[in-house]
Amino acid sequence: MSRLRILALVHRHLIPPESVPEGTDVAAAPWRTEYDVVSTLRAMGHDVRILGVHDDLGEIRRLATEWKPHIAFNLLEAFDDIAIFDMNVVSYLELLKLPYIGCNSRGLLLARDKALSKKLLAYHRIAVPEFEVFRAGRPIRRPKRLTFPLIVKSLTQEASIGISQASVVDTDEKLRERVAFIHGSIGTAAMAEQYVDGRELYVGILGNQSLQALPVWELFFTNMPAEARRIATDRVKWSVKYQKKYGIESGPARDLPDAVCERIQHLCKRTFRALELSGFARIDLRLDEAGRAWVLEANPNPQIARGEDFAASAARAGLGYEALLQRIVNLGLRWQPESVA
Ligand SMILES: Nc1ncnc2c1ncn2[C@@H]1O[C@H](COP(=O)(O)OP(=O)(O)O)[C@@H](O)[C@H]1O
Ligand SMILES: [Mg+2]
Repeated sequence: MSRLRILALVHRHLIPPESVPEGTDVAAAPWRTEYDVVSTLRAMGHDVRILGVHDDLGEIRRLATEWKPHIAFNLLEAFDDIAIFDMNVVSYLELLKLPYIGCNSRGLLLARDKALSKKLLAYHRIAVPEFEVFRAGRPIRRPKRLTFPLIVKSLTQEASIGISQASVVDTDEKLRERVAFIHGSIGTAAMAEQYVDGRELYVGILGNQSLQALPVWELFFTNMPAEARRIATDRVKWSVKYQKKYGIESGPARDLPDAVCERIQHLCKRTFRALELSGFARIDLRLDEAGRAWVLEANPNPQIARGEDFAASAARAGLGYEALLQRIVNLGLRWQPESVA
């Protein structure tokens, strides 16, 4: 393996320390992913420089020109604190002809908008829940094809922001309330989607043209009260206390016959291709009582901290953390943005 110059692009507040004192709870640190990635790449022998980015593209260009990195390890999820500008930074790397890890700018654009991506998936006959988009300032009227319960969420926000038990609505009044909440508190357009009762599954995909699906992963709600909806709310995703209280944990999907797993993995690869993703992504699905899998969304550049869902499912497939990062780097080196379309 050759030693590479790798430019790690991280949010300016998430620059990881060079080393951590014994006993530090790295898993609880905000810069955990950045630390895991940088320290692992260095341990593998790569030459890594970290650039904290806020709203200055000039610094990226300067380093790209002067230091001539082989590749940028892109860990940015926003530019100037604006999440949907993540794709613009990737576009800029493409203009600089600097290879980068993770998804191309076009895939980021297509996957970001949960309605646009579902329209593309529907064309490819991939099952997605029926939905309607409600933009701020427009009347909130439920089309007849949508029946309760519905789940109301942001069109473009990620990480379960704005998702709680109250997101699942049973009446037109609650629908209007929740749509207004998304407009007012989250500040984006809202979408109401057919609620899919069932199991929550995640599948990691690695590749550009030829794709590898990682083992099907499941989010378990072991001690969740019977009346609560088993969905990945904000608290389910982010509150360790809440996770402990309700037995929320993830791991390999239990008791899913091999044939079902293979069907789901195949569906996820088709989703990855339909949205023109590259590098690595995680597809979120729900599996209903009848055994039908519904794609909720595709997440290009998902969380890749050591031990988190993506890395854990890769490890299960025999791909340890170092091997996973090296694979992601290799995919980035091989990707040719100008050959898309
Ligand atoms: N149509 C749906 N039916 C059932 N649960 C849903 C539906 N849409 C979203 N959810 C729940 O909300 C969570 C977050 O929704 P998702 O669309 O994946 O957005 P995010 O980008 O915030 O992860 C999902 O993981 C799932 O638990
Ligand atoms: Mg999701």
